[in-house]
Amino acid sequence: MRLIDGKKIAADIRVSLRHEISQLVGRKPHLALVIVGDHPASLSYIRGKKNACLEIGLLSSVIELPTEIAEKSLLEKIDELNKNPLIDGILVQMPLPKHIREYKVTAAIAPEKDVDGFHPLNIGKLLLGEEGGFIPCTPKGIFVLLQTMQIPVQGKHVVIVGRSNIVGKPLAALLVQKKTGCNATVTLAHSQSAHLEKLTRSADILVAAMGSPLFIRQEMIKPGSAIIDVGINRTKEGKLVGDVDFEHVAPLAEWITPVPGGVGPMTIAMLMQNTLEGYKKTLKRPS
Ligand code: GUN
Repeated sequence: MRLIDGKKIAADIRVSLRHEISQLVGRKPHLALVIVGDHPASLSYIRGKKNACLEIGLLSSVIELPTEIAEKSLLEKIDELNKNPLIDGILVQMPLPKHIREYKVTAAIAPEKDVDGFHPLNIGKLLLGEEGGFIPCTPKGIFVLLQTMQIPVQGKHVVIVGRSNIVGKPLAALLVQKKTGCNATVTLAHSQSAHLEKLTRSADILVAAMGSPLFIRQEMIKPGSAIIDVGINRTKEGKLVGDVDFEHVAPLAEWITPVPGGVGPMTIAMLMQNTLEGYKKTLKRPS
């Protein structure tokens, strides 16, 4: 079994981004982090993103908005950030309170500042295999992990459990592309999938992204496969666990990501990379 050390791989990427950013002449890239409400996990993710910006030399602004904010007011705030020429990337932390429509928010962000890659235009480009859009950070981070570890993807059966707009759907769209490092046969499974265990047992690469602690058990995997755990769940005892029962699955797997220290740090590193890309796009735009 080989551990996929996302923490180390992400740290190396941050070092190289830091170097590239230090070479920029003039103003530095600036990421706006918008958080609605005070959900503890979301606050902690925003803190992690802000610290990563600090470490690599990106500017960041955290915009904290109250849970009760009207959807219209949030959209106005986004529009203000869209129009601000000093802002290169805009991220609105998900999930949002129930009264705010996620689609309205993601569609309101200027596509060229949409460092999360959630805007319908960017999702559309990803699905169509068009270059030049933003790829959502977690799927992009998983792709980089697979490449770095030289895990074969082409022609392999990738089973993704979890069909979220943030991870499952865009990851399926990415890995199925007719491109180097992709060309996978992708099954996008979810809570209503019949014979789930049969599907997961046939996976050369199994991606667990359903948000159910320790859901993937030893008997659900193919021996010798690669296991990518996107889950971050906190137990009653306060311990972080993934969607995979690491202790029992790891001995059978050829490659496996730990939680924490697997996919999580890669998501943040990809956000930093996308923000630098956003900066380059902003500079190219006529004013
Ligand atoms: N919530 C969980 N993951 C993400 C992410 O990648 N971006 C945003 N904006 N919210 C999230």
